[in-house]
Amino acid sequence: MSSQADRQTSVPVDAVDVVSPADAEASEAAPAVLTVRGLTISVRDLELVSDVDLSVGPGERVGLIGESGSGKSLTALGILGLLPEDVTAAGSVRLSGIDHDLIGAGERRLSRVRGNHLAMVFQEPMTALNPTMRIADQVAEAMLVHRTQSNRRTARAAAVELLDRVQLTGIARAYPHQLSGGQRQRVVLAIALANDPALLICDEPTTALDVTVQAMVLDLILRGVTARDSALLFITHDLAVVATICQRVLVMYGGRVVESGPVREVFTNPRHRYTEGLLAASDLEAADSGPVGTSEPVRRRLPTIQGTVPAAGHFPDGCVFRTRCPHATEVCAERPPWTGDQTRGFACHHPAGADDV
Ligand SMILES: Nc1ncnc2c1ncn2[C@@H]1O[C@H](COP(=O)(O)OP(=O)(O)OP(=O)(O)O)[C@@H](O)[C@H]1O
Ligand code: SF4
Ligand SMILES: [Mg+2]
Repeated sequence: MSSQADRQTSVPVDAVDVVSPADAEASEAAPAVLTVRGLTISVRDLELVSDVDLSVGPGERVGLIGESGSGKSLTALGILGLLPEDVTAAGSVRLSGIDHDLIGAGERRLSRVRGNHLAMVFQEPMTALNPTMRIADQVAEAMLVHRTQSNRRTARAAAVELLDRVQLTGIARAYPHQLSGGQRQRVVLAIALANDPALLICDEPTTALDVTVQAMVLDLILRGVTARDSALLFITHDLAVVATICQRVLVMYGGRVVESGPVREVFTNPRHRYTEGLLAASDLEAADSGPVGTSEPVRRRLPTIQGTVPAAGHFPDGCVFRTRCPHATEVCAERPPWTGDQTRGFACHHPAGADDV
């Protein structure tokens, strides 16, 4: 297991609002904000992400989980058009309201979309901030660049209000280095929400933060997207966070989405053997309370599944999980077809729970 996974902790379940099943059903029916089809990401002749299909409905909150190296961040960077130069993306990424595909779009077009319709919060806030600019000016700049505020005075007033909403009152004139990690991440969140994005993508936004501020930042993310009706694509190692804030979940392994569906369904009735392994090892229920008689924060780590994750681009043909799967048979050397639809489905020849359905 990676050291990053080791550092990952979760929030107490009551720190954020619990998703109602009605929410999930409502968002399933609406047309998608984000539609990804056949996203394939390669470096030279190595395929790191293969043929990913996903969609996120308006206001829907979707989790993306999987072990370290499964291709979660590359998928997010591919959607955002932020892949490193030597890494190429093929397929289609469409955002509602944008009349062109984001794959293959030039940087000028992409930068009009990013920070406006599509916003992001990554793990390390310092890389997203300008160290030489005061906090409120950076938030105001995000609105001026995308012309959602017409002049510096109104943009600054709006920035101060946004900072208040992420509980950063009185720090408008501070520089990033004068803030704590948690405060900096809240500034990044304020910038990301400044233009009421249709979709917010968060990639491990709380992993680098102190345990005590993780719950607060997650709560603010949830409140921020809910207030704006923004959709959320949330990448994490932490299954409990997904269970708490997301309606639907996508499970990735070996650069592929191997299972997807409503969180409750996938977590209680996993079909793909990889999801089953993740959940079995995570012991979600047992981790719901801290050690008996203590007030220690609850810790849920990425579970360890038997065997080692192959190196990038070297997953087996057929089912990518077959070198680690206790249920693998000869047929698993052939790529399993997707069973189900975009809302609920999996790609496994010998799915868990097959006898019950
Ligand atoms: N520029 C690159 N060149 C070559 N390989 C890369 C590059 N970027 C990422 N990879 C590899 O692609 C695989 C997927 O990487 P990615 O960062 O998407 O994983 P992840 O699921 O986000 O993992 P983690 O949970 O550790 O953040 C990894 O094995 C990684 O080493
Ligand atoms: S397709 Fe085969 S190897 Fe892959 S998860 Fe299912 S049973 Fe295991
Ligand atoms: Mg990552």
